[in-house]
Amino acid sequence: MADVPKYRAYSQLEEFLHNFYSLLQTTRIHRDNHKLVIEGVAKFSKSISGCMLDESMAIKASNDRLFIEDEKLPYNQTTKNLIDNLVRYFDDRGLEGLRFFKSIKVAASQDILALMHLLNGAGKRPDPLGWIINGLEMKNLYWLEIIKKPEKPQGDDESTGKDKPARRERARRDYTYVMASFKEVAEKVSGKGRAGMRKTVRVVQDMVTHLIEDDEVYSAISTLRVFDDYTFTHSVNVSLLSMCIGRRINLSRRSLERLGICALFHDLGKIEVPYEVLNKPGKLDDSEFKLLEEHSLNSARLIVKLKASRDRKAKILLPPFEHHLKYDLSGYPYTNWRKSLSLFGRIITIADVYDAITSPRVYRKSAMSPDRALGLMLEGAGLDFDPILIKVFINMLGVYPVGTLLKLDTGKLALVVSASQRENEKMPIACLMEEGIDGRFYNGETVDLAERDSTTGKYKIEIIETFHPTTFGIEPVQHIFAND
Ligand SMILES: [Fe+2]
Ligand SMILES: [Fe+2]
Repeated sequence: MADVPKYRAYSQLEEFLHNFYSLLQTTRIHRDNHKLVIEGVAKFSKSISGCMLDESMAIKASNDRLFIEDEKLPYNQTTKNLIDNLVRYFDDRGLEGLRFFKSIKVAASQDILALMHLLNGAGKRPDPLGWIINGLEMKNLYWLEIIKKPEKPQGDDESTGKDKPARRERARRDYTYVMASFKEVAEKVSGKGRAGMRKTVRVVQDMVTHLIEDDEVYSAISTLRVFDDYTFTHSVNVSLLSMCIGRRINLSRRSLERLGICALFHDLGKIEVPYEVLNKPGKLDDSEFKLLEEHSLNSARLIVKLKASRDRKAKILLPPFEHHLKYDLSGYPYTNWRKSLSLFGRIITIADVYDAITSPRVYRKSAMSPDRALGLMLEGAGLDFDPILIKVFINMLGVYPVGTLLKLDTGKLALVVSASQRENEKMPIACLMEEGIDGRFYNGETVDLAERDSTTGKYKIEIIETFHPTTFGIEPVQHIFAND
């Protein structure tokens, strides 16, 4: 008797995997009743029913490749992004793979959605596998089984993700290296020398490797500010925040590297703007503003002059040119030849504005508190910023981003040091700021602001007001990093 094929053609499997991954992404962004989600569930169900001809079907990731049972899915131009994304998605959750059983063909839409939320939510959990297993049981999703990764030997290695202080230290080191390499490029360019990009590319690549393992620590380290070095810290922060956004929308490693470099060089043109104009307290006059406006075009022009292959430079030119253009194409430089901005341009604009308005400047002592900055930016969704990306950004940083200073109803000040570990919880974890006799602030107790009173259901501690930490002379990174 001829062998009965267990599955359909690769194209059908690809279609299913594509629908599966798209649904994971769509459910991250939209509500369950959104048209795209409803369509996504229908496509997912149809394609899995079409390609599963046996009792069960396992998708597994191994050595950066995807397997259906033991058959490797071809890795080519068409499938490479999908495979990279799914492999990373599984990897982030400690999953080797998933086994779907035949009864998924009759699963209700809300159960399919429950699975998507469970898998997406697991990415933020300290024990993603435990979270998924528990969720499958609670929600009675009997048509799915997870395939665990073979256990790795444990150690205090930074890459195991167990050693938080080590990961923070590594992030701080990466920050310093990226900053130093960017400074070197900027100094050479301003000294009319010809700067290369090789070192910068290498340090950004390292950072991407670490950021893929843990992006939270990198968005926290972007609260680092050095007063005198605004352009440099700003460039590194924009690069970090852009890569963190890129990570959230599951860009490939290659794309993250390119995004990181584009963002790092976005203000390179500022080295040609006189210091007095850049740091002028008060409004710029027309001619000064014209000088400042030229910096985005100049960033692109200076990138062309860097010592690197044409291909590499061509790939990073556009986003720095675009970074002061808004989503509705207003802003500068004036352009009437574009219909829309590039994805990287839209990402960098968000990171750029956020870092700029939350940064204390020589001429502006009180910067905006991070939560207020996000609120303001949300008002510009669809006009100034890509409406979906701005939501991704806000979701990423949380309602009270790390580094926000809070005034609590207890009269104490507290610094947000981490997002809540509870699902769908906006109230963060904060560290009380205790004032010493020297007038400086020291870390006190860490409080979980999501804790509620069991009788009233209200939060035990309320937030009265928010500030930028520099309003009280607090340098957030020192406190956040001292808190392990
Ligand atoms: Fe700029
Ligand atoms: Fe900028």
